[in-house]
Amino acid sequence: MKRFDILSQLIKCLSRILDEIEGHTSSHAQGVANSSISFADEFGFTLKTQRSLYYAALLHDIGETTLPHSILYKNGPLLPAERKKIESHSVVGYKIVKNIPSMTEVAGLIRHHHESWDGTGYPDQLMMGEFTRAKQILAICDLNDTLSRERPYRPKRTNEEIENILNESKGTRFQPDMVEKFIKFKNNTNIKKNSLKKINEIKDSGQELSDFESQAYLLAISVVFSNLIGEKIPFLATHPSKVALLSVKLGEAIGMNKNELFEMKIAAFLGDIGILAQDEKIYMKKDKLSPEDIETINNHTLIGERATSEITSLPNVSKIIRNYHESWDGSGYPDGIKGSKIPLASRILRVADTYVALQHDRPYRKGKQRTEITESINTYLKNIADPSLVNTLMEIMKN
Ligand SMILES: [Fe+2]
Ligand SMILES: [Fe+2]
Ligand SMILES: [Fe+2]
Repeated sequence: MKRFDILSQLIKCLSRILDEIEGHTSSHAQGVANSSISFADEFGFTLKTQRSLYYAALLHDIGETTLPHSILYKNGPLLPAERKKIESHSVVGYKIVKNIPSMTEVAGLIRHHHESWDGTGYPDQLMMGEFTRAKQILAICDLNDTLSRERPYRPKRTNEEIENILNESKGTRFQPDMVEKFIKFKNNTNIKKNSLKKINEIKDSGQELSDFESQAYLLAISVVFSNLIGEKIPFLATHPSKVALLSVKLGEAIGMNKNELFEMKIAAFLGDIGILAQDEKIYMKKDKLSPEDIETINNHTLIGERATSEITSLPNVSKIIRNYHESWDGSGYPDGIKGSKIPLASRILRVADTYVALQHDRPYRKGKQRTEITESINTYLKNIADPSLVNTLMEIMKN
């Protein structure tokens, strides 16, 4: 597979989450990516930089997935501390993306998509030449796309209004000739058609990976993305990796093949990715959950399923995620299916997920000692887990 295809699939997976947050039907991220890659064509960049711009555009607001909903959806003016938190999204995105192999340039672009030519932007107050052309391309395409969409607090801007705003940003937000070039480009280009051509160009020149390298790369990105969950809800920080480790042990013990194990591992890392689109407050609650809260929590598997359906090279991942909160007796969610109707990998994840969660503190209860869990495992997993998997778990725990 091409490195490009793997990245595209996983990036689309996260873009879907961002779309759920913003409540848009069509993607802001994809819109910014299409115009960035087309506009970049006028500057003679290397293919590598063009590719970086494309990835960066798709991921530029990824840090927003970790912002508290209370700030993200606040009606009314933001307090200074809240504004700071919102502004942190570019640095969070940078920190996450720089951990993906070969994405240093992409991470830098993401970090600086809210900088200004006159040094008044954030986070680093870059000035003039430091705010490179590539960085300005991303920033101007972001501004343009944002203005062309409706927001909860304002209608979408007309073309004329956008042009006025862009003209006012000459010498302040952007280098004057960048604004002129962009307005000309915008008025004379069929961006949709042009971007399709450009995307094929950057894709065809991309590196081809062996199956082994593809899997390693896919896993590396999934791990990095799963770190967003811990950024948003700190008590979940180590949860995905522990679930992955234990579920693979269970899978190996019952003789799953390599591909099955791999898909299950990716599902373990991305299982809770739907939480990124949700109000974190529900997961922090100390008292009893309301029926609406429960419905929201149940929905995280469906959001996760929709998002991971973008990983077309691993079609089972989204199916596993959909059903990994089903219970053996049919009392789980979202489908309430029972017994062997639940996909095997989902059943394994259910056991691993419950076992790992029991060990750790939650806002509403203390974590339990491992010995205590092992002694009462049958009680804890009764009705929830496939009984034969509970036996396998006990075997593993003995060793
Ligand atoms: Fe942003
Ligand atoms: Fe944006
Ligand atoms: Fe979950």
